[in-house]
Amino acid sequence: MPHTTPTYRIAPSLLSADFARLGEELKAVIAGGADWIHFDVMDNHYVPNLTFGPMVCQALKAHCQRADGSAVPIDVHLMVQPVDSLAAAFADAGADLISFHPEASGHVHRSVQAIKAKGCKAGLVFNPATPLDVLDWTIDDIDLILIMSVNPGFGGQSFIDSALRKIEQARKRIDASGRDIRLEVDGGIKIDNIRRVADAGADTFVAGSAIFGKPDYQAVIDAMRSALKG
Ligand code: DX5
Ligand code: ZN
Repeated sequence: MPHTTPTYRIAPSLLSADFARLGEELKAVIAGGADWIHFDVMDNHYVPNLTFGPMVCQALKAHCQRADGSAVPIDVHLMVQPVDSLAAAFADAGADLISFHPEASGHVHRSVQAIKAKGCKAGLVFNPATPLDVLDWTIDDIDLILIMSVNPGFGGQSFIDSALRKIEQARKRIDASGRDIRLEVDGGIKIDNIRRVADAGADTFVAGSAIFGKPDYQAVIDAMRSALKG
């Protein structure tokens, strides 16, 4: 094991929720044990799909609470270009973590600093064909690395296996940095592959269709946690 036993986090993606009942879906998945809420922002420009913006984030923020009153972080995944203006709007709308694709920013370091200046944690997202090189010069500044195991834009796609090698490489970079950086994976995560993804070094798991595609969200999240323990 290249790293100490991590605290795993499961981040259900609202992309696969019933948009006509978004508030109820949010509450149900929090009651079911969501650690973070993953919020997929698409702009019909950087990716060929369009979802929701900061106003929806702000409306949901008020409900991101567990029964014991603790807050559930909102994990905003920006699939937008340009990055900076929307990142600022999401920070104002209550986002806790904001991640963006380095290809979508003309000045990656500046975008990271702008997110942190707003008091949010900053993450970089790597598409299936994107190398990790940009981390050479940014790893000391970021809080999260998000490895895409599908091409961004749609839920319900199949896990791309080469992501496992990239997760291993990212884990090595994090360990070498000595910093506290979350390693999140997004796309095609299911009960039956989550353990493999964790073994490659991931500690945070986005799951959309696997959770919202089943009637009992808690049952899926519990099964994912058991797989992670097993
Ligand atoms: C895809 C999004 C994902 C999506 C994952 O562009 O970034 O977060 O919701 O969906 P599943 O878990 O269904 O692959
Ligand atoms: Zn996502």
